[in-house]
Amino acid sequence: MADVSAGQKSRKPIMAGNWKMHHTHLDAIQVVQKLSYRLSSEDYERCEVVVCPTFTSLRAVQTVIEADNLPIGLGAQNVFWEEKGAYTGEVSPSMLAKLAVSYVIVGHSERREIFGETDEMVNKKVKAVIKAGMTPIMCCGETLEEREAGETAAKVSRQVQAGLDGVDPNEVAAMVIAYEPIWAIGTGRNATPEDANETIGTIRSMVAGLAGEPAGAAIRIQYGGSVKPSNVAAIMAQPEIDGALVGGASLEADDFAQIVRWA
Ligand code: PGA
Repeated sequence: MADVSAGQKSRKPIMAGNWKMHHTHLDAIQVVQKLSYRLSSEDYERCEVVVCPTFTSLRAVQTVIEADNLPIGLGAQNVFWEEKGAYTGEVSPSMLAKLAVSYVIVGHSERREIFGETDEMVNKKVKAVIKAGMTPIMCCGETLEEREAGETAAKVSRQVQAGLDGVDPNEVAAMVIAYEPIWAIGTGRNATPEDANETIGTIRSMVAGLAGEPAGAAIRIQYGGSVKPSNVAAIMAQPEIDGALVGGASLEADDFAQIVRWA
């Protein structure tokens, strides 16, 4: 968690691997073990490392993390906002918290586009995740058409404002936002580091406007979209960018370890 009072310099970078619908629980165990062999205590000191497997792999990965006492955070890719009930196929926040899940990706563009998640649903999920004692990684980002129409800031601002509606400023400060231009996800195309930095700066100002300067200075904002070992250093050199949400390049331990060790 970031220190609100100390501002920008205190933000610890966070690299999160979003495995999407990849890896059985057996593969997931192997990747986490291999990742742990590649990383040293200095790496964890410098950068928070999180893996977000599928629901079916969470328990297996949690067991490995606990057994080897690994400083790797466990994240889920989605959640439902209700505690329990007749919601076939859904998973509740407390079910995840009980599995020692500490991060939950909320409002990924794939969930918004394929599964129809709205800003209002994202907001409910953000609140439910916080209530259960976990940290949301709330995603936002524009389509190519929106970017070309000059609507990036407006789109992202709308998503962030709606997603944070009614969230306590201290809780906003402890959250993570992932800025992921949709046209850059899984395409091999990525925003220039300068463009990503600019949009993330806009998001930070927006958060400061909504939840106060300390929250704006403390919240960690990641870039996501075709981050790989070869481009991560340039992205991380940008002052506003506090880490990355990594899809494809997090599936292999070697690549993800290189990303964590970008410096
Ligand atoms: P990618 O995915 O790194 O494969 O582009 C990023 C994401 O969707 O979180």
